Amino acid sequence: MSKRIDIDWAHLRYDYIKTDYRYISYYKDGKWDDGHLIEDDRISINVGSTALHYGQECFEGLKAYRTKKGDIQLFRPDENAKRFASSMAGLKMESFPEELFLNAVKEVTRRNKDLGFTPTYQTEWEEDQYLGGHAVYLRPFTYSESAIGLGLSYSPWVVVVATSVGSYFKPGSKAAVTTNKVRATKNGTGWIKCDANYVIPILAKKEAEANGYMEAIFLDAIEQKYVEEGSSCNIFFVMKDGTLVTPALGDTILPGITRKSVIQLAKDANINVVERKITIEEVLADAKESFVTGTAAGISHFSSITHQDKTVQFGSGEIGDVARTLLTELKGIQYGAIEDRHNWMFDID
Ligand code: COI
Repeated sequence: MSKRIDIDWAHLRYDYIKTDYRYISYYKDGKWDDGHLIEDDRISINVGSTALHYGQECFEGLKAYRTKKGDIQLFRPDENAKRFASSMAGLKMESFPEELFLNAVKEVTRRNKDLGFTPTYQTEWEEDQYLGGHAVYLRPFTYSESAIGLGLSYSPWVVVVATSVGSYFKPGSKAAVTTNKVRATKNGTGWIKCDANYVIPILAKKEAEANGYMEAIFLDAIEQKYVEEGSSCNIFFVMKDGTLVTPALGDTILPGITRKSVIQLAKDANINVVERKITIEEVLADAKESFVTGTAAGISHFSSITHQDKTVQFGSGEIGDVARTLLTELKGIQYGAIEDRHNWMFDID
């Protein structure tokens, strides 16, 4: 019998910590097996796996929240299930069915829930004050069998890991800087949540941090002119006329579930939302707020954006009015403090 653990939520970083159960399922003989929970957090991998050699791997990220009522709920896992299936298809793997995905993430959350891995409601949300970002982060990912001769994986497997997490960005600087590194390009994999899109962002983010910034911003690969994404999150701008602008989806933009939710919440608040190309010059001249969105990032605002020798400061550097409104709505729904009017929250039982 596992023992409860005591997590120091105030100092918890965004990292993997060992929880008690994880889930695994294999695609064999033309079908997915029933899947089962495992207690060991090491998995045995074929040394020729295409995931290891060529990054033929995709993944998801979603969170379980402790709500005001005391129960635990998942935020839009159906959307993650759909994106996971589309990512797997994009890498020519047999897609993991939505129903199996939902059962797997619920089961992993349920089986780990009484062991202290889920924060209490009070550590997260008091009235309208968002405190931490603490949650259980679920990371479904794929693995594959051997195909070392630059082959595709026809027998993938899916693992779902749970870990308790704190805030994604380091405390301190909220400044962002553009990078000239290339994350994604036309006809590439930028729209797929796969390994290939994350190695360059890791390098860019580390470089930005080493220079005192919180985040790196990617521009388009060809002209280095249009803003595309943060290092692992979608990006938004509030323009001086109040319009909320975010780069339109396409080959190079990840279809973020937080992005989609923020667009809906902005429309609910009668904010004019436009999905379109936006140049960095326009941002420098006309934006009055900027923030990134993602499961890990939540809604995280920037105090400034620097591009080459120009910097735009956003107000006093504190979170702006639009980002605050959207954050309050999003977190309110996730923690059960505000009515879930779009039916985004899923019970785990
Ligand atoms: C997420 O937000 O779920 C992500 O995949 C970002 C990751 C780099 C933590």
